[in-house]
Amino acid sequence: MAIQISPSILSADFAHLADEAAAVPTADWLHVDVMDGHFVPNLTLGLPVVESLARAAATPLDCHLMIEDPDRWAPAYAEAGAGSVTIHAKAASAPVRTLREIRRQGARAGLALNPAEPVDPYADLLGEMDMLLLMTVEPGFGGQKFLDLVLPKIRRARELMDERGAAVWLQVDGGVSDETIERAAEAGADVFVAGSAVYGAQDPAGAVDSLRAQAER
Ligand code: DX5
Ligand code: ZN
Repeated sequence: MAIQISPSILSADFAHLADEAAAVPTADWLHVDVMDGHFVPNLTLGLPVVESLARAAATPLDCHLMIEDPDRWAPAYAEAGAGSVTIHAKAASAPVRTLREIRRQGARAGLALNPAEPVDPYADLLGEMDMLLLMTVEPGFGGQKFLDLVLPKIRRARELMDERGAAVWLQVDGGVSDETIERAAEAGADVFVAGSAVYGAQDPAGAVDSLRAQAER
């Protein structure tokens, strides 16, 4: 299982996004948290910024849409140049159609579940997605504490993927740090989002390498 690190620019300096992207050259992805102030009580950025950043950054964008009505907006993020677009299951009214639309626009399609949402109801949808995102905090803000209560669900998701032979990446997002990444990796996650642990560090590039080393142990 190849480990991938996706630093979240939510903890970066929004006035210098291109520089912040360049500060993590060994990152596999750049995680872009799109928040609309409705699905979550926080507001960040949208399509125009994603479009510009996709042009300016050498690292592909991993767009995490924490928005209402992702069915309407998600394909446009793929079109804007994102390499991966993830929608929240509970916000989507037609997740299968939307995941297919994202793929049709040439991006990888992801489905996200909040800490309290079970994974089993989505087992039959695994073939429709390239990545499953299990939130390890309630979405909305960076710097929250990793929720260990999600670990059994990470194990369960990996089990379902193995059973079905689904080539789906398993991403975790929230509270991922040098202290918590090993537990998440051991449970079966392979793509790790880290905001404050990377951009809150003196040396963001070093933080990415350190996270990767911990996850690969
Ligand atoms: C939270 C966002 C995360 C956030 C993670 O709703 O989805 O991507 O940036 O931040 P940390 O790593 O600080 O928990
Ligand atoms: Zn995120």
